[in-house]
Amino acid sequence: MGTTGPAAKSFHVTTFGCQMNEHDSERMKGMLSALGYSEAPSREGADLILFNTCSIRENADSRFIAHLGEAKRLKGEQPDIVVGVGGCWAQSVKDEVFDRFPFVDVAFGPGQIHKLAEFLTSDSISAQGYFEFEDFAGHLPARRARPFQAWVQISQGCNCACSYCIVPSTRGRESSRRSGEILEEVRGLAAEGVREVTLLGQNVNSYGRDLRGEEKRTFAELLRAVDAVDGIDRIRYTSPHPKDMKEDVVLAHAECPAVCEHIHLPLQSGSSRVLKAMRRTYDRERYLDRVALIREHLPDAALTTDIIVGFPGETDADFEETLEVVEEVGYDGAFTFVFSPRRGTEAAALEQRVPHPLKKERMERLVEAVQRRARERSQRFVGRTLNVLVEGPSRTDPARLRGRSRHNKAVNFEGTAAAGEIVAVEIASATSQTLMGSERLLSRAR
Ligand code: SAH
Ligand code: SF4
Ligand code: F3S
Repeated sequence: MGTTGPAAKSFHVTTFGCQMNEHDSERMKGMLSALGYSEAPSREGADLILFNTCSIRENADSRFIAHLGEAKRLKGEQPDIVVGVGGCWAQSVKDEVFDRFPFVDVAFGPGQIHKLAEFLTSDSISAQGYFEFEDFAGHLPARRARPFQAWVQISQGCNCACSYCIVPSTRGRESSRRSGEILEEVRGLAAEGVREVTLLGQNVNSYGRDLRGEEKRTFAELLRAVDAVDGIDRIRYTSPHPKDMKEDVVLAHAECPAVCEHIHLPLQSGSSRVLKAMRRTYDRERYLDRVALIREHLPDAALTTDIIVGFPGETDADFEETLEVVEEVGYDGAFTFVFSPRRGTEAAALEQRVPHPLKKERMERLVEAVQRRARERSQRFVGRTLNVLVEGPSRTDPARLRGRSRHNKAVNFEGTAAAGEIVAVEIASATSQTLMGSERLLSRAR
């Protein structure tokens, strides 16, 4: 599909935010290709300039607004180009976007990608905004970055009420995609040569609770069904919520050959008092119980997490508890964030803000602990041979290759394999983030 003749119009998409947005952008690109648009290498010269935005923290907003300035300049020089803004930031400000940025022609929320096509194919000359929450856009064709890896959306929205988080208001109520549709998509991807799928949702392990009848499946059952699809060698997912991390999911990891040995289990804080104020619905003990369950069945699995420092009212003692959990669990990696008040959230109205220098100091101590533990944990791979899915040449040294282990560690290695192959790599050394080694040429892995 798609025409690429000289008259074809071109688009340029800039994506901010999480994998959910990356995947939505792939689908925007797929849809635009189907409409006959081609992808422009830069914003300069594109007929359609799109931004897929994020609003999770304040710096996500400001980064995007700096980019929007360039679109304004280009539109000033060439008024017939179309500027579109989609995603979570657009959803969170809705029609205000047109007052603040009058050069924007179309704005749409995360559930409204398909409306972009409607806008582009209509004769509409006035600015349009689309902000309803609707059904899945899962049927839209995706333009994937790599032929052997794919994202698969299994749910949308979030029913949690974490007091710091803007996502429930930008992505709406949680709804699970029909399992038959998901499996059909996965089978189609496998037939196209995809070996690794990442199942996407805000809270993947609450998947299926809203489904009825034959389509009803729990998340663990879905993992087993995807595992049974021929040709899928690796299954990942993001993000699970600790409250829903039950034994059935852990057993699916232990028993399904394709489900990877990596679990991302967002902690947010190690203090039960702060967790309560965050409305996370688990406390420190429950979280550590989940970790013990995982370690019991999957002793070698990598565990990663998300942590927020400087939540309003976080005391030195609360922060020490977070450090204790970090020391005790020994994460293989963590994303660490400084609390950022978000419009419309409960936590944004809380007093007892933690002063900036204190947040900074806590962050430094946290990062030190996370990295030290991750470096220690990494050493268990030295001397072992791991299966690595090759992604391409190394970014720092094009003579070497780069890929990922099933534990989701980046692996930098000497070898001759092509992108998309899974090869055995003997690990010689390890830092907190990366493993280094060389391909074992005589033992091609599956
Ligand atoms: N649904 C997923 C991802 C949410 S966003 C989940 O629950 O795990 C990813 C991370 O951003 C969160 O886990 C949290 O650590 C961080 N985050 C969200 N809102 C934030 C805020 N207002 N300030 C700082 N960090 C935030
Ligand atoms: Fe936000 Fe909490 Fe939902 Fe994650 S689970 S998206 S942190 S409200
Ligand atoms: Fe950002 Fe929306 Fe994802 S706020 S992190 S793009 S769900």
